[in-house]
Amino acid sequence: MLYQRSSSLFKEAEKVIPGGVNSPVRAFGAVGGTPIFAKSAKGAYVHDEDGNTYIDYINSWGPMILGHAFEPVVAAVIEKAKQGTSFGMPTAIETGIAKLAISMVPNVDKIRFVNSGTEACMSAVRLARGYTKKDKIIKFSGCYHGHSDAFLIAAGSGAITFGTPNSPGVTQGTAKDTLLAKFNDIANVTQLVESNKGEIACIIIEPVAGNMGCIPPKDNFLQKLRSLCDKHEILLIFDEVMTGFRLAAGGAQELYKVNADIVCFGKVIGGGLPVGAFAARNEIMDYLAPLGPVYQAGTLSGNPLAMAAGLAMLQHLNNDNSVFSRLAEKTEYLHQGMAKALQENKVNHTINRMGSMISIHFEAHEVYDFETAANANNESFKRFFHGMLKEGVYIAPSAFETWFISDALSYEDLDTTIKAVEKVSKNL
Ligand SMILES: Cc1ncc(COP(=O)(O)O)c(C=O)c1O
Repeated sequence: MLYQRSSSLFKEAEKVIPGGVNSPVRAFGAVGGTPIFAKSAKGAYVHDEDGNTYIDYINSWGPMILGHAFEPVVAAVIEKAKQGTSFGMPTAIETGIAKLAISMVPNVDKIRFVNSGTEACMSAVRLARGYTKKDKIIKFSGCYHGHSDAFLIAAGSGAITFGTPNSPGVTQGTAKDTLLAKFNDIANVTQLVESNKGEIACIIIEPVAGNMGCIPPKDNFLQKLRSLCDKHEILLIFDEVMTGFRLAAGGAQELYKVNADIVCFGKVIGGGLPVGAFAARNEIMDYLAPLGPVYQAGTLSGNPLAMAAGLAMLQHLNNDNSVFSRLAEKTEYLHQGMAKALQENKVNHTINRMGSMISIHFEAHEVYDFETAANANNESFKRFFHGMLKEGVYIAPSAFETWFISDALSYEDLDTTIKAVEKVSKNL
């Protein structure tokens, strides 16, 4: 494959955009090489500026669950744009998508729309702090909730100590209110809660983690978190930016039958346009301005184009509920095919999967938290990534990302992908 045009576009971009990209993971920093510039995409395929075509397993990092340029979404956006692109006034379509989203998601009465997953999680935490009148939050190592200051925190010297900023610009003052726990380790979370009794406003979690590869909860971890939160009057926040409207119509809450107090959305809910949202029961949501004291706002929040795209996407998912089991079947098929190819070539690996999220860690042992994910062989991943790219398969350029399966992928595409894995795994 030739990447000449991508290379020259990247050089041009680097002169005017830091690192040539508007979001760091696009820069291929974890795998090396030059990022590929997308030109267009349709269905299961993305086409780059050099004329190469790839089977796409990133799908814009999750939103394109029905494939790229999905006709009803494109048509809804075009139609809406003709009527004006932003008003800064309430519009009927905001109520339309709110009603539909609330009907699909368990345990929520109201929803507020924002412009990104970052904003959704940031606002959810502020709301939780305002509602509980407590300051500290618990997040899990390896979970990502966007780039707001309270989340850019690494584990401190001991699990019980405060977190420390993991980006310059995040203050110690902010870091001291974020405590880091271990995913899938309820004893660890309990210990943190016990040693900060009466101070924890919320526990925020990706119910199926997708930012350390795919890591599902095990041993009823989510149920146990729910009980712990109930016991200590802590709000449980599910960050369903990846899992919402993907694992099931009602997301991880529906799949695992665990109710969260606040749920955050992004990605699929915007149909590929910039949308985030957070939702909860009335008594929590009514704490938000203008009804309540917790401030939250946005010039472009509920933007009509974004709402039109999101509404068309949710309508389709709501009308065709079989999409979720179909996606899970496709993902299982891919899992089995890839596992066979890797086994035959004696490549150490662990494949984790839940619904339409899947990832490979090049490590023989079970991967269930950040530490076990970080122990995997990143050199093998780099070779795997570039090998797959050469075979026309585009997976996320980092071992710490889940792949997103779209319904546009055919079984033929999956077979092509499995054949590519067979070939690439001979040279890992
Ligand atoms: C689980 C999760 N939460 C929040 C975010 C932040 O969303 P955004 O990139 O839209 O700000 C992401 C982004 O990948 C995510 O995966």
